Amino acid sequence: MKNYIKYHPWQIIEEEFHHDFHLISESIFSLGNGRMGTRGNFEEDYSGETLRGSYFAGVYYPDLTRVGWWKNGYPEYFAKVLNGVNWIGVRILIDEVPLDIAITPVTNFQRVLDMENGLLLRSFEISPPSGGELIFQFERFCSMADPDAGVIHIRVKSEGFFGKVTLEPFLDFDVHNKDANYGDQFWISRDEYQDKYISMVSSVTKKTGFTVSSLMRTNLYKNEVLTDIATSAHESMKTSHLYSLDVKSGDELVLNKFVINLSSLYVPAEEQLDAGKKKVETLYNNGYHALKTAHITAWKKIWDGADVRIKGDISAQQGIRFNIFQLWQTYTGEDDRLNIGPKGFTGEKYGGSTYWDTEAYCVPFYLSSSEAKVARNLLVYRYLHLPKAIKNAAKLGFKDGAALYPMVTINGEECHNEWEITFEEIHRNGAIIYAIYDYVRYTGDMHYMVEGGLEVIIGVARFWAQRVNYSEAKKAWVMLGVTGPNEYENNVNNNWYTNYLARWCILYATEQISWVKEQYPTQWDKIKSTVHFDEAELTHWDDVAKNMFFPKDDARQLFLQQDGFLDKELMHADQLPAAERPINQKWSWDRILRSCFIKQADVLQGMYFFEDHFDLDTLRRHFDFYEPMTVHESSLSPCVHAILASRLGKMDKAYEMYLRTARLDLDDYNNDTEDGLHITSMAGSWMSVVRGFAGMTVKDGMLILAPVLPPTWTGLQFNIRFRERVLLVDITAKGCEVTRKSGDPLFILVHKEGRQV
Ligand code: BGC
Repeated sequence: MKNYIKYHPWQIIEEEFHHDFHLISESIFSLGNGRMGTRGNFEEDYSGETLRGSYFAGVYYPDLTRVGWWKNGYPEYFAKVLNGVNWIGVRILIDEVPLDIAITPVTNFQRVLDMENGLLLRSFEISPPSGGELIFQFERFCSMADPDAGVIHIRVKSEGFFGKVTLEPFLDFDVHNKDANYGDQFWISRDEYQDKYISMVSSVTKKTGFTVSSLMRTNLYKNEVLTDIATSAHESMKTSHLYSLDVKSGDELVLNKFVINLSSLYVPAEEQLDAGKKKVETLYNNGYHALKTAHITAWKKIWDGADVRIKGDISAQQGIRFNIFQLWQTYTGEDDRLNIGPKGFTGEKYGGSTYWDTEAYCVPFYLSSSEAKVARNLLVYRYLHLPKAIKNAAKLGFKDGAALYPMVTINGEECHNEWEITFEEIHRNGAIIYAIYDYVRYTGDMHYMVEGGLEVIIGVARFWAQRVNYSEAKKAWVMLGVTGPNEYENNVNNNWYTNYLARWCILYATEQISWVKEQYPTQWDKIKSTVHFDEAELTHWDDVAKNMFFPKDDARQLFLQQDGFLDKELMHADQLPAAERPINQKWSWDRILRSCFIKQADVLQGMYFFEDHFDLDTLRRHFDFYEPMTVHESSLSPCVHAILASRLGKMDKAYEMYLRTARLDLDDYNNDTEDGLHITSMAGSWMSVVRGFAGMTVKDGMLILAPVLPPTWTGLQFNIRFRERVLLVDITAKGCEVTRKSGDPLFILVHKEGRQV
């Protein structure tokens, strides 16, 4: 754990420059606006260790797969979100020597992520060899008011320095993905432009043909007087403006860099130059302060709906705001072609692709903190991929419209190529259906069933009905050769979570078919013919659902994670020496597989999903059995444990797990923040607070709260949207107040008592 970030309710603050943690800080200080995002790289040169990264939503490259041993059924490529144009660059030279704070000593260094206003701020001072001081201040943002715009504002003040300061804002498209499998460059220069004021670089991706154009216009004021660009330089994939000024003590330079980044997802390649010129001109004319005000106003609107206020615990407060901030920077829900990569725009690991994380963790967050259409777009994303999920299943030998969604995807095709995961970690299919159920029960938007929902449900139910086989020995349907959420076990039989989810999907499909048949007979006829549904399928489904096998131990009254789980040497994770953790960095894979240690919630994940199916005693037995063996080496694990522990009144455990989720990156718990932030598990932090501590759930269309706060918290306040209403929930030691801020009156339950709000 690193403890170099200062506590503050609204800001992430690093004081003094921590060279050794720079890669971590680059992740933490990332900015984004749903359309694009940039790691917290410095504008100027930096020769220390760095991962320069700017990413553009939906712009990917199919990088040829690299595996040790090819298996039939593997995808041929891994789609990667691309490291794109470096639009933040500003070279700085002092008396012709490049400023590089890996080498140049700095004092009063501070960087701040101002989450309330969506700004990245940085300041420091240097003492050039010729004497005096230069004081630098940087501000930048990715505009929430205009998703194509990024703006940088730099101030340089001389105190006793006499000499030359050169500022060279540039755009550089000569970039590579660090994780490229064969070291290829994924971009080809497509077009360039430069006139007296505006410069552009434009590149197109190999194979996928996405074009991104980046245009800039800059200005520089010396002591509030506008100066001219000295020269503009242009070379292939790189363009710059150069300002070189003689500076004396007391002088102040202010540079503004206005950038428009256009991607062909939104503006056709051939229109980007004209559109970009117009847009960048508008930015320039509006000026830095007006753009900043519009951006801050857009953030204010987000925070009005999404903020969570925790009283009495500043580290928890900082953690949750950081998580909410990063989630909104990653996904704003306007485009059903986009999704939420586990690292968002903050790193290259996981390729920027979609995992089950979205459905299991992010959908609940967006359901409560934004309009229904945001979560709906995440469902539609999968609906649009249904034909490819059917193709994917067919590739593995399934038939008749059975759908297997990929473990990792950007465009609907599977990208992952480890057989234990690609072919076996099929529980992801169930999470996609669970998200439909979650969406419908939360929003009441039953219409979604006939607008795509049911087709997806049928495809997945068909898959499960084909994936099981009948065991004569067990006289039941079994599911062999799977990997559950606990990836520290592979190729197991009858993973309880997967079997439970599969049976639930089949039952849910059956129920929804009959509901749609009755409520929307015409649409049902259409769906039936689209998916070629045969009523005889229901007979097999019914048999599978009734006779699914679940491994259990009668003596302990426990469901077992999978067949044979009790043959393992059962130990508690706290018996592991600290030097051997995390086991995924210290142990051989073989040793991990044979151990009882659980990477992330598995049986408990199921008990969290299906909270109404298990009474508290059953939940407690399972929690007490599985939790001590869980090493939480997936970022998705602690939040589920936090929610269940709250439900069981184990508040110390709940709080420990909450902090582990909410401060995972700020404190670098898992030693991997440098790869990027754990964006999807950030939604789990929110779940721990709202679904855990506030005990929020929805049953039969009714909103239910059952708050219980960690002992150190004196209050918790948050807004939620529920069925066209905005509600303010205010929990203190005295009780729980719910105020309706907009929409019609509503009847809710708080600690089992009915209330009209
Ligand atoms: C977890 C998966 C998760 C993936 C991406 C893995 O470490 O085990 O459950 O989908 O990370 O977050």
